[in-house]
Amino acid sequence: MRTVPLGSTGRQVPNVVLGLMRIQQLDDDAVRELVRTGRDAGIDFVDHADVYGDDLHGCERRFAEAMRLTPSEREQLTIQSKAGIVREGPYFDFSYEHLVESVEGSLQALGTDHLDVLLLHRPDALVEPDEVARAFDHLESSGKVRSFGVSNHTPGQIELLKKSVRQPIVANQLQLSITHAPIVAQGVAANMAGEDQSLTLDGGGILDYCRLNDITVQAWSPFQAGFFTGVFLGSDDYPELNAVIDRLAAKYDVPPIAIAVAWITRHPAGMQVVLGTTTPERVAGAAQGSDLPLTRAEWYELFRAAGYRVP
Ligand SMILES: NC(=O)c1ccc[n+]([C@@H]2O[C@H](COP(=O)([O-])OP(=O)(O)OC[C@H]3O[C@@H](n4cnc5c(N)ncnc54)[C@H](OP(=O)(O)O)[C@@H]3O)[C@@H](O)[C@H]2O)c1
Repeated sequence: MRTVPLGSTGRQVPNVVLGLMRIQQLDDDAVRELVRTGRDAGIDFVDHADVYGDDLHGCERRFAEAMRLTPSEREQLTIQSKAGIVREGPYFDFSYEHLVESVEGSLQALGTDHLDVLLLHRPDALVEPDEVARAFDHLESSGKVRSFGVSNHTPGQIELLKKSVRQPIVANQLQLSITHAPIVAQGVAANMAGEDQSLTLDGGGILDYCRLNDITVQAWSPFQAGFFTGVFLGSDDYPELNAVIDRLAAKYDVPPIAIAVAWITRHPAGMQVVLGTTTPERVAGAAQGSDLPLTRAEWYELFRAAGYRVP
């Protein structure tokens, strides 16, 4: 498993991580097997959120109840969670009270005394940077959170937070797959007239901004064609893409899922791929894409086969 820097923390973390958004219905054995398969492949980093599961903190609780981690097992894991979404609205809430209450709920559900990383889940239009700073200061000084990051944020939104927040923003979790790649594709077709691809959907150069500011990009939904529209792997909707994936999978002697991972890990930004599968075999296959050096020609061929323009 290849590792990448986690922002400016000085810590190295695996470039494939286990997202646990979909584990609510798994029994104890299934959760343990999923995590064990990841660990065997070098994945010691898990991604949670307070809102994952049937109830608030549902997947965090399912994970903790199934794993019953000893203190030393807990220390071997990097546990990341997120706050800021209120499901009942739905709306977003980056107030001091909401963020602190959410983290305390996550710690209780997870049965741990600290989160390694806390992400602000989705931008709050009513964000007050001073409130976020107060929450981060409290969570850091009380030892409840070690590092802080964001998710689905634009450069401007991160800059706004940085007006008040002292702690480095170490990660930005963003939707990215071969078929949903506006954060990569826009730059390739920048300034072209009449090209949808040249439109800025990401608030302007978020990928370059993250690279310039040592913010680790974490790619969520790495196999989904769009916004939870089903996976592109093996889909009849993507015959050209799957033909290229299958050919490269045969060439490198890996399952197709590893090629989809490698398209992301090959990018020099040093991204992390956040898997959402609950199938251990798929986790093992995906891990094979961690350090698979696609050639430049292969990377661009996948990009073109997914429908993106290379002018
Ligand atoms: N920050 C955010 O806003 C945000 C949003 C969404 C997700 N996330 C994080 O990102 C993680 C991944 O998201 P995701 O679950 O949408 O991504 P994903 O890994 O692209 O999709 C996984 C889903 O696709 C299914 N699937 C069907 N065929 C598959 C195949 N051939 N290979 C792989 N999966 C296949 C899986 O089913 P099986 O389980 O049956 O294998 C699972 O339901 C989540 O767990 C969460 O941690 C973050």
